[in-house]
Amino acid sequence: MADQLKAKMILDKNYQIAKIDERIYGSFIEHLGRAVYGGIYEPDHPEADEQGFRRDVLELVKELQVPIVRYPGGNMVSAYNWEDGVGPKEDRPRRLELAWRTIETNEVGTNEFADWAKKAGAEVMMAVNLGTRGIDAARNLLEYTNHPGGTYWSDLRKSHGYDSPHNIKTWCLGNEMDGPWQVGHKTADEYGRLASETAKAMRLVDPSIELVACGSSNTKMPTFAEWEATILDHTYEQVDFVSLHQYYGNHENDPANYLAKNMDMDHFIKTVTSICDYIKAKHRSKKTINLSFDEWNVWYHSNDADKKIEPWTIAPPQLEDQYNFEDALLVGSMLITFLQHADRVKIACMAQLVNVIAPIMTENNGRSWKQTIFYPYMHTSVYGRGISLKPILSSPKYDSKEFTDVPYIDSAAVYNEEKEEVNLFMVNKHLEEAIQVSSDVRSFEGYQLVEHVVLENEDLKAVNTPDHEAVMPHQRGETTLENGILDIRLPKTSWNVIRLEKTSS
Ligand code: AHR
Repeated sequence: MADQLKAKMILDKNYQIAKIDERIYGSFIEHLGRAVYGGIYEPDHPEADEQGFRRDVLELVKELQVPIVRYPGGNMVSAYNWEDGVGPKEDRPRRLELAWRTIETNEVGTNEFADWAKKAGAEVMMAVNLGTRGIDAARNLLEYTNHPGGTYWSDLRKSHGYDSPHNIKTWCLGNEMDGPWQVGHKTADEYGRLASETAKAMRLVDPSIELVACGSSNTKMPTFAEWEATILDHTYEQVDFVSLHQYYGNHENDPANYLAKNMDMDHFIKTVTSICDYIKAKHRSKKTINLSFDEWNVWYHSNDADKKIEPWTIAPPQLEDQYNFEDALLVGSMLITFLQHADRVKIACMAQLVNVIAPIMTENNGRSWKQTIFYPYMHTSVYGRGISLKPILSSPKYDSKEFTDVPYIDSAAVYNEEKEEVNLFMVNKHLEEAIQVSSDVRSFEGYQLVEHVVLENEDLKAVNTPDHEAVMPHQRGETTLENGILDIRLPKTSWNVIRLEKTSS
């Protein structure tokens, strides 16, 4: 038998990247497929509350401790009239929803979603339509949601039963406007001008808001990089964030290459950060633009099934990826990548939250359950609040089809000074072997090991169904802590959470 693979690590409380913005554990609900209708909202379901929201789904969302949810799209927002979704439900129009070619009933709109988010303990991140509409619709929506009263739109909100404003703080200026598939797709100059003027008007309505300009839809876009530079040139002083979107898939069934794809995400983040700082220098600005990675996930399992869906139906099962164990590993590595960039990535939204490329699934009028990707998302959201530390790790490496020098181990550590806790998140990407990591944690004097949680499975393709949760974490991880050395065994292809806390004296 070959010698066991080994790695060394130093984890020091003074090697700090940044305080983590909890919004990196955000998510996304679009009016798409069964995300809203049959997902969060199903008035005839036995678990429905007085507003028609499924309590079972809300409970699962609460387990994830989602701090912010992007809404209402996505591609859908680019042809959406927000006014269709407010006021008496019986007066709301049915519309052709152009992005996904379905029928939108508008039973759920801005006010209902704000109520749902409050129940879920989350903030709303609202997107405005810069595809078919523009400055006027955006500033009216903001007046409707955030102005206290005494004006046409704020009084209309009050007449709809919402006396207090929703005070939505974070706003997206459109969605994926670089994409030719987007209704109202624009060139970078066209979008940059519109986004800048929309931002100006919105800030006049409510100066306290934060604004996100659309970056590239993914790293393969032909306009990637030039798009960011151009739109930031137009919007630099008006916005706070630029967005990034990225989905991955294991199309070629090459797990070693697939599990390395967060290296592409890492490169994407570094590139966009550099562009922001280049425009900052060019404008002689004192302001720093941060990154909002407001769509990310694995998305490919459902591609073929989606081609067979009939157009113009209500809430068809679109984008219903059934996630397997290897997807959970890549999702874990993507979350680690955000933590490694906690100094610049301040918002990230797993796309999406329920049914549509989601950690939570439901049956219409039936059960709800956790997909495999639920677990790394939950672990980082619950245990990943505090300061992101920089573990110094010497990991063995491999080459794959698209990547060279891929570390077998991805790692991030979060130090919560108040709670006197430090939590380590680690992925072992080795397809055959466990790796033993000897970690110097002497700066955490007086700390003890709480638990080592592991997500592992012999079958990379194992999935969870409502009848059988094949992929779920256990607490039998093999780690010891002695004399300041944390000795961790990372099983082959595994997601690991190692938790330490200060001993009470
Ligand atoms: O999340 C699904 C879709 O992916 C979104 O509507 C769009 O913004 C992206 O292309």
